[in-house]
Amino acid sequence: MKTPLTEIRNICCIGAGYVGGPTMAVIADRCPKIQVNVVDLNESRIAAWNDSDLSNLPIYEPGLDKIVQRARGRNLYFSTEVEPSIANADMVFISVNTPTKTRGLGSGQASDLRWVEACARQVAKCAQGHTIVVEKSTLPVRTAETIQAILQASQGPQSNGEPRSFVVLSNPEFLAEGTAIKDLETPDRVLIGGEDSHAIESLASIYNKWVPSEKILRTNLWSSELSKLTANAFLAQRISSINSVAALCELTGADVKEVAKAIGSDTRIGSKFLNSGPGFGGSCFQKDILNLVYLSRYFGLPEVADYWQNVVTLNTWQQDRIARLVVKNLFGTVTGKRLALFGFAFKANTNDTREAPAIRIAKDLLDEGAQLAIYDPKVESLQIASDLKLPQITPPSLKAGPSKAELSGEGTWWPCSKVEEAVSGADAVLILTEWSQFRGLNWDELAQLMRKPAWVFDTRGIVNKEEVTSAGLKIWRVGDGAT
Ligand code: NAD
Ligand code: UGA
Repeated sequence: MKTPLTEIRNICCIGAGYVGGPTMAVIADRCPKIQVNVVDLNESRIAAWNDSDLSNLPIYEPGLDKIVQRARGRNLYFSTEVEPSIANADMVFISVNTPTKTRGLGSGQASDLRWVEACARQVAKCAQGHTIVVEKSTLPVRTAETIQAILQASQGPQSNGEPRSFVVLSNPEFLAEGTAIKDLETPDRVLIGGEDSHAIESLASIYNKWVPSEKILRTNLWSSELSKLTANAFLAQRISSINSVAALCELTGADVKEVAKAIGSDTRIGSKFLNSGPGFGGSCFQKDILNLVYLSRYFGLPEVADYWQNVVTLNTWQQDRIARLVVKNLFGTVTGKRLALFGFAFKANTNDTREAPAIRIAKDLLDEGAQLAIYDPKVESLQIASDLKLPQITPPSLKAGPSKAELSGEGTWWPCSKVEEAVSGADAVLILTEWSQFRGLNWDELAQLMRKPAWVFDTRGIVNKEEVTSAGLKIWRVGDGAT
């Protein structure tokens, strides 16, 4: 029989995704005495985590491969053995997906908790002795109540007569993709919400192996759950705020970078998260704000709901605005024109495309009949096809004259393995992800490969304006009213 331990020896994490994988890899790396089993139903994802070639890990995160190399097979294991891993665990992390519901009550806003509920039922069925269940997924406030209810319904003796008990904690994850390892190794804070001080200290002692005590915050369950949604809402709100100002800059001769620097120098405002761009993407900002909107309405606060809804509305507007201004500047039509898209991931240093602004912008341009040559250093072409819901075509040969699609005005796309290939014959380049390689491009060389007059639409404000214009190209830069 497992008794409540201050020192956890065996962890099971359900969900080997963007959060479960890197988070558990860092815990295993920093706590070699704890056995960490990361389990998932997705067999191909687990196979990729176990691939001997570390470049095939299912997630691209700088520094992750080295950590996996150190810990995998020592005290870090990836498998599909969900039930035995739960049975052996002192602590079970639930790190599964919580997307926005697409049907039924709360469709389009509320989080779909079916995977979280399935985990709670599986833990209720398989856990033995005393088990601490940790909410790692981002969840609506008061979800712990549901998990507790499911677990309590099965509390009591197991088949061999030994007693079973459960404690639920909330421990939301604040890592950002692309910097996940740095965020996990040196977090601004670790948040633990709960009512059972013994369980809280067990979890705190794991983080305390590498996180200073003063950075480990303890709150009640509901504050912890709500803080996660609120943190994402505040971050996203800053992006919508600066993007709204960018549009105003473009019309008034102001430069959003200068405005951001001026306001960000006020320590009450702070300089981070003030980069104007094509709108925020990623799997969480929109989903978490919509969840906050849903909860606010549910709790009878329509003004609060409307306030947060506007952060998302402004974001969608920014993405559509960019597609519209590309069309407008290319003489009002992109039908049959080649456009080079630089970057498809929702931000640099990740292969994740979930809710990437590139998807909406590309779809808008495809609807207008554009021919998109897409280059991203990390995103697979199959992923792009699935996001655009359109298969790729064979790159049309420039020498062969206008292609069938160009003549029919049908929107098409193809992947490119380098920027030079993407710009060949293009009327414009759209920079959609701030990959560092796009900062130092040789515009003189690229310009020679393009059809004139040619444009650069820099939605991230990262290229050198003078280099682009001196190469004979026209430029639009987000929030730059001086161009
Ligand atoms: P993900 O989709 O990458 O991974 C979730 C994994 O859970 C999938 O591999 C899926 O197969 C698995 N899964 C689902 N149900 C299962 C079950 N019953 N048993 C076993 N495996 C199951 O999701 P993610 O990006 O890692 O996000 C997970 C949670 O963390 C979400 O709530 C998200 O909001 C939150 N979060 C994400 C990030 C991020 O950067 N992606 C950051 C902070 C918090
Ligand atoms: C975000 C939060 O930063 C994390 O703290 C949180 O844990 C995570 O969501 C989550 O809950 O999933 P992430 O989405 O990975 O992390 O990446 P961010 O760096 O926040 O970027 C989100 C989007 O905002 C990207 O599309 C990025 O390009 C955009 N962004 C970011 C801007 O347009 N401007 C900025 O100044 C910053």
